[in-house]
Amino acid sequence: MDIPLNSIIHGDCISVMQKMPDNSVDLVIADPPYNLSKGTAWKWDNSAHLPGMGGNWNKVMEDWDNLDIVEYFKFTSLWLAEVKRITKPTGSIWTFGSYHNIGLVNFICQILDIEIINEVVWYKRNAFPNLSGRRLTASHETILWSHPHKGGDRKYYFNYEESKFGDYSYDRLKTPEKQMRTVWDIPNNKERREIEFGKHPTQKPLRLLKRMIQLTSKQGDLILTPFAGSGSECLAAMELGRNYIGIEIESKFVDLAKLRLKTPQTELDLSRLAVFDA
Ligand SMILES: C[S@@+](CC[C@H](N)C(=O)[O-])C[C@H]1O[C@@H](n2cnc3c(N)ncnc32)[C@H](O)[C@@H]1O
Repeated sequence: MDIPLNSIIHGDCISVMQKMPDNSVDLVIADPPYNLSKGTAWKWDNSAHLPGMGGNWNKVMEDWDNLDIVEYFKFTSLWLAEVKRITKPTGSIWTFGSYHNIGLVNFICQILDIEIINEVVWYKRNAFPNLSGRRLTASHETILWSHPHKGGDRKYYFNYEESKFGDYSYDRLKTPEKQMRTVWDIPNNKERREIEFGKHPTQKPLRLLKRMIQLTSKQGDLILTPFAGSGSECLAAMELGRNYIGIEIESKFVDLAKLRLKTPQTELDLSRLAVFDA
């Protein structure tokens, strides 16, 4: 395929995806900005928080995580529409969120006729305790598993055998040889190798991403990560024998992802993407 496969593309995911052909990727894992970096500079010890949206969230205080709600709605609609268009009818879309954004993502999926298959709760048993003593300790994130329903029968790939017989012995909520449930007990700590080149403020653990990839894709499939961050999704894809394309707007994270993947950064050549033959 004439496309910069297995590379991190430095750019805005909406513009990049607009250049990609219809039905060209097998799986999308989207970990978008949750839009929770509001308010004044956040410090661990001053408990600055967004009214009504505080708690133990890691406010990253980056511009990409701080849009007003109308802009965030437009942004989410645009990237999800592109994701739907470029995902094959056999494909799946996983979208991360928290209560700050996931209701909006769910709503937009319904508007765009992206069918939600499951809502997964990622339970973080080692979540940091709430210091204020005025609310519960936030200890989960929500992940929507959906598919780009394009009419006719639902054709998305699901590895039922993996969901039942895969080795998830670290997960206290997964009963061996029983079908996987929608609450996943996955500690959020990273292995040493996951942070050896540096950390991303919202970096996801590899074993969480590998679970999604194993459940909904096959060897050799193409996985797109529109918000690549430190490249975790791409690394998980690579280690499982899948192809990947990551898109990331911040050069410092492109560099970090590149180091983790140990591949040269490929500049986007849109003319090559335009002739991508899926
Ligand atoms: C929640 S983080 C993803 C973290 C990633 N899952 C990891 O494990 O490292 C979201 C990322 O999206 C990037 N981003 C924000 N807006 C973007 C856009 N329009 N196009 C591409 N990347 C964007 C941010 O720079 C940030 O690194």
